[in-house]
Amino acid sequence: MHSVLVVDDDDEVRDRVASWADAFGYAVQGAGSAEEALDSLNHSPADIALCDVNMAGKDGVWLAWRIRENFPQTAIIMASAVRDVETAVSSLRNDVVDYLLKPFDQNRLREALSLGGHWHAAAQGDIKLQQALQDRLRARRASLATVLAEAQTTHEAALDSLISMLQFHERDGRGHSRRVARLTLAVAEELGTADNDHLLTQLEHGALLHDIGKLDVPTSILTKCAPLDDDEWTVMRKHPRAGHDLLSSLPRFRGAAELVLSHHEAFDGSGYPRGLQGTDIPLGARILAIADSYDSMVHPHTQRPPMPPAMAVREIERCSGSQFDPMVADALGQVLVHASEAVH
Ligand SMILES: [Fe+2]
Ligand SMILES: [Fe+2]
Repeated sequence: MHSVLVVDDDDEVRDRVASWADAFGYAVQGAGSAEEALDSLNHSPADIALCDVNMAGKDGVWLAWRIRENFPQTAIIMASAVRDVETAVSSLRNDVVDYLLKPFDQNRLREALSLGGHWHAAAQGDIKLQQALQDRLRARRASLATVLAEAQTTHEAALDSLISMLQFHERDGRGHSRRVARLTLAVAEELGTADNDHLLTQLEHGALLHDIGKLDVPTSILTKCAPLDDDEWTVMRKHPRAGHDLLSSLPRFRGAAELVLSHHEAFDGSGYPRGLQGTDIPLGARILAIADSYDSMVHPHTQRPPMPPAMAVREIERCSGSQFDPMVADALGQVLVHASEAVH
């Protein structure tokens, strides 16, 4: 039986959560403040600590930090009523297992505690559990990104929360998203497709979030310095579908989901995930694919140094008609010419 310490300065919430955990079969203790929680852990370390973020006196983020330092085998779950993306992301950085948005129900609690128990067992050195745990943690992070995005009141805040989660997971995630979005819109304008505001907004959202499915790709693959092997490519190639599924669950970004799904399709049908060909690939995705490739080429990457822009342009020309739509490749060329004229 796993032990759980429930830390909340609201007696009513603490008692309710404790009684749910008790009913699930956990050995439960309660604490009304961060200091009391540390006393309790010093006395008998718990397998899992469920910490409220906003408490009078020392808060839950402070407590999480102390627990991480002094009780390396205690799994930490944070709970907060605040839809605060910064706190969520900094909690994840503190090796927090899960993040509960209040009010949460018994099912969410059960899920978080089960993940906490799993984490505790893996921390005790059960190697077999560790791989499976990484998969569960990634899945939780992707769904936390969805919940946080849904909880934001504006489109901008929702976009930003998703990009923050991606940035946490992938270095340069934010910079790459922004640059690809700018270039995508410029190419769309060059092609004269920029007069439909609705489509343009969808295109901007799709471009900003095109790699959001990488939340579902292990960091070990995203940051690998050597070329990926076949198995790793198989995992990597799932990110357009993962991104599509994540965005389809958010009504405000559903229109962008199709573009995200198709951003690695190739004009000659050799792309993934569906092997679509030519104009079967949505125009927005054909534009996004070229902006994405150009940006990836001219910026440093874990597996290779940046390419000079002139060489990247030649590479795009070389792949015009195979990987890229020739019409879109020409438009990208024009955009880059205008941009260099503007600089000189
Ligand atoms: Fe991608
Ligand atoms: Fe990308």
